[in-house]
Amino acid sequence: MTRTRCDRTPAWGALRDTFGARGAAFDLRQAFASDPARFDAFSQQAPHVFADLSKNLIDAGIEAQLQQLARECGVLEHRDAMFRGDAINASEGRAVKHFLLRSPLPEGPCADPDLQAVHATLDAMLHYAEAVRADSAITDVVNIGIGGSDLGPQMAVLALDAYATPAKRMHFVSNVDGHELASTLARLRPHSTLFLIASKTFSTIETMTNARSAKRWFEAGGGTDIARHFCALTSNVAAATDFGIDRTFGFWDWVGGRYSLWSAIGLPIAVAIGAQGFREFLAGAHAMDRHFQSAAPAANLPLRLGLLDVWYRNFHGFGSRSIAPYHSALRRWPAYLQQLEMESNGKRVDAQGQALGFGTAPVLWGESGTNGQHAYFQMLHQGSDRVPVEFVAVRQPRHDLPGHHALLLANALAQAQALMVGKADAGGQRDFPGNRPSSFLLLEALSPASLGALIALQEHRVFVSGSVWGINSFDQWGVELGKVLAGDIAQRLRSGDRSGLDASTAGLLDRLRGADRGLGLA
Ligand code: F6P
Repeated sequence: MTRTRCDRTPAWGALRDTFGARGAAFDLRQAFASDPARFDAFSQQAPHVFADLSKNLIDAGIEAQLQQLARECGVLEHRDAMFRGDAINASEGRAVKHFLLRSPLPEGPCADPDLQAVHATLDAMLHYAEAVRADSAITDVVNIGIGGSDLGPQMAVLALDAYATPAKRMHFVSNVDGHELASTLARLRPHSTLFLIASKTFSTIETMTNARSAKRWFEAGGGTDIARHFCALTSNVAAATDFGIDRTFGFWDWVGGRYSLWSAIGLPIAVAIGAQGFREFLAGAHAMDRHFQSAAPAANLPLRLGLLDVWYRNFHGFGSRSIAPYHSALRRWPAYLQQLEMESNGKRVDAQGQALGFGTAPVLWGESGTNGQHAYFQMLHQGSDRVPVEFVAVRQPRHDLPGHHALLLANALAQAQALMVGKADAGGQRDFPGNRPSSFLLLEALSPASLGALIALQEHRVFVSGSVWGINSFDQWGVELGKVLAGDIAQRLRSGDRSGLDASTAGLLDRLRGADRGLGLA
């Protein structure tokens, strides 16, 4: 399909005019004062996620113009192309079908071979997850993977801690920094440890280095039964077999790394919360897929959020978004979203390789809510830049400590309120300018289903902004150069060859080699 880039549409020019006329000076306090129904008009219930968008710098007219932009860019046609299985990841010639991983089988016969394969693998993987859960000799499960093969599963295992079996300790090793693996291994014993080697390509240097070291440690500790203690999660089954791992759960090239936690890469989640929990997780995401596919545009939450992101990035010029989960189990939520959004949409050319003259992915950053309050919320309230904040809160706690949850939620609400209303005080340092926008996402409970829906919401919202910008959200060429250069420099650290290097890299190389007195660099 032909997509029209946002900056070539009439709607783009109209939005510029609107921004000049009333967008730049938009005042949330006035908007609430003049419209008593604003909360109802700008909030909505999507599957498992209630979203209050009313504290954003938009009115009905601006939202309508953003919807017009989506129409002129063909966002919904692009969405349909994805769900149809078209090869929308053109630079890699691949379809983008992570949604299929959470699609249920039809009532009758299934005509889609990919969906059949998805369910065959899912059943096998969940069967294995249950076997691991029932195996009392395995006390520790170590996921070795990085990027999408780490961030999603790690975030979800932490988030669903309250649903996890206490019989397994889950560990995540991603960094090639040996401190991470060494400190993990120091707490383990080979005969009670299961290693999950998670890598779509089974070639990522960090993961392969950690996997080899884990295997050496296992064998040095008397471990012999690799089939029982190592399992590979990969789309490169041949490479896993070469590595010496027989038990492999595969997936497909149409699953991007940062969209892979629904696939075999989700095995740590399934071990933690069990097969039934994992199926609920998939069902929650599927409910959001259906919402994205079928909700009317004006009530389509991923569409609305993605368009809001465009409004803030390209018209207000906001360069970042702060993520504030008010639930400690969601503490890896910001890190997970960083890869999802910044690896997907951190692009400076369109899908045809033509330079873009406007900003794309903002910087995403954040921390658990109240911790952030005592670190950088000063800047959010009184700093020179306006940073939209995205709160996530959960109505029902999973503990019974009196008072805590009400206080936590009070803090979330108070921060969103303070950002918006501000405060005129003694002037100068005590004044809060206010009119600082935020969105508030609210879950009834943090459950497998609601987490699945929340993640799928974010996946689709990133799709929408990427689609408006005309970029390919599903490749990641920007990570390649550093990988190639690291291979070259690793050799030079051994040989000392500094030929052709810039003076800074050469100087640092010399210092690192000079410091190599038993540090294992050579
Ligand atoms: O960081 C680049 C990247 O390719 C990510 O997209 C991916 O999630 C990560 O590396 C890990 O890749 P793999 O799962 O192939 O080891």
